[in-house]
Parts: sequence; structure tokens; C-alpha cells
Amino acid sequence: MYYFVERMTEDDIDQVQMIERASFSTLWSVNTYRHELRSPATSRYIVARASPTPPPPRTERPSFRRGLLAHLLPGFLGQPPSHTHDFPIVGYGGVWLSVDEGHITTIAVAPAYRGRGIGELLLNGLIDQALELNADVLTLEVRISNIVAQQLYLKYGFRPAGTRPRYYTDNGEDALIMWTDPIRSPAYQEKLRQLRERLFARLREEANESGPLHNDLRLEME
Ligand SMILES: CC(C)(COP(=O)(O)OP(=O)(O)OC[C@H]1O[C@@H](n2cnc3c(N)ncnc32)[C@H](O)[C@@H]1OP(=O)(O)O)[C@@H](O)C(=O)NCCC(=O)NCCS
Repeated sequence: MYYFVERMTEDDIDQVQMIERASFSTLWSVNTYRHELRSPATSRYIVARASPTPPPPRTERPSFRRGLLAHLLPGFLGQPPSHTHDFPIVGYGGVWLSVDEGHITTIAVAPAYRGRGIGELLLNGLIDQALELNADVLTLEVRISNIVAQQLYLKYGFRPAGTRPRYYTDNGEDALIMWTDPIRSPAYQEKLRQLRERLFARLREEANESGPLHNDLRLEME
């Protein structure tokens, strides 16, 4: 299976909410999504889509190569398909800019697709979006009990920095607050480059294992 990431649109809200319902106990309204999607100067939302065959070249959206991922790993990038809505959404995520801080607001992968690198692909996409928004650091809150998500964040250089007691209203659970080092620093950029190389190798391997037609992995970030 091939996975690619692109900006979320209002047409995607239904599918995103299905993944949200399967992932979280408190849900956002359609209007919340619309508001976020209509505020691109401070909020960016992305979706990951799955394609059983290499996505066909996309001739539109010339801005697609602007992302850091495209800059760092041009050899891995194909062009995204022209009709991406044909491919189901398997994950989504968002980042919100507050002054120079990028807040990861949400990230989730459909249960059947977890453990395949898609969460990591989405986090990379969100880091790219945060860089485009000129964020200097990234932060987020995560449930104290959510070890899987914490492992993902630790892998990408987020470090625990305190808690927000009883932050989650559904069960009164504490939130762990996590921060990165400056994401433009040479050290973080080098860490990111290495992580992305490994992720792309993993995704390429999985695509190759899917069958003989699937030997030309194409990924995309906007
Ligand atoms: C958190 C989530 C997005 C991770 O997505 P995913 O696609 O399953 O994760 P990936 O396959 O990309 O794995 C990336 C990293 O996450 C961590 N991870 C993933 N699954 C894990 C597991 N079962 N146990 C421990 N760590 C795990 C690891 O650090 C992993 O890196 P590794 O493969 O080098 O060990 C996904 O589990 C999810 O949607 N959970 C429900 C929603 C949620 O909790 N969101 C976070 C809110 S703060």
C-alpha cells in the first residue's frame, strides 16, 4: 500500500470524523473543523491517504514541492495524484500557530492502519506545516496513559515538560506537556533528516512487500 499526505479540505471532514470517533472520546464539531480549515494563516490540517497502486502523477498544485520533506528527500517524492479524493483517508492531524510555537492539536490513524508508519508520516507532515508557518518550536499535550503516542513524540525529539492536572474532561486524566528543541536548529534538522530516511525506507519496503506492481513508492507532502 502507498501512503501520501496532503492538506485537508472541507470535503474530507466526514472521513476524518470517522477516524476521530474511533480514536478519541471527545469529538470536534463539523463547525470546529470548518473554522480551522478556514484559518490557514494559523491552522494547518493534513490527511494521509492510502492507495493500492502507486499514485498517478499530479500535474496541478505546483506548490507541492515547497515542503522541507521535498527539499530533503527529493528522490523519494513522486507527484501526487490529480484525483486524490479517490483514495481513502487513513489518518489526519493538525497544527496551530501561537506566536512562534506550533501546537500539535490532533493526530490519529484509523485503527486498521496503525503500526505502519502513517502516524510518523503525519507527524512529519505537521512539522513541515509548522515550519511553513514559521514556528520555532513544537508543543503538545498527550494523555499520561497514552504511551504509544508518547513514544512517537519522543522519537521526534519532544520532551516531557510538566503536566496539566485533570486536563481531559471525560475522565479527569492529566495531560503530559511535551516540547521540542528549536526545530530550525541544525541538530534538530539533522535528526529529522535521519528519521525521515528511515521512515521512507520502511514505507518503501512495505510497498514492495505488497506485490510486484507496488515497487515504485511515491509519497507526497504539500
Ligand atoms: C498515536 C498514533 C497516531 C500512532 O500512529 P501509528 O501509525 O500507529 O504509528 P507509527 O506506525 O507511525 O509508529 C511510529 C512510532 O510510534 C510509536 N508506536 C507506534 N505503535 C506503538 C506501540 N504499539 N507501542 C509503542 N510505541 C508505538 C513508536 O515510537 C513508533 O516508532 P517505531 O516504529 O520506530 O517503534 C496512533 O496510535 C493513533 O491514532 N492513536 C489514537 C489517537 C491518539 O492517541 N492520538 C494522539 C493524541 S495526543
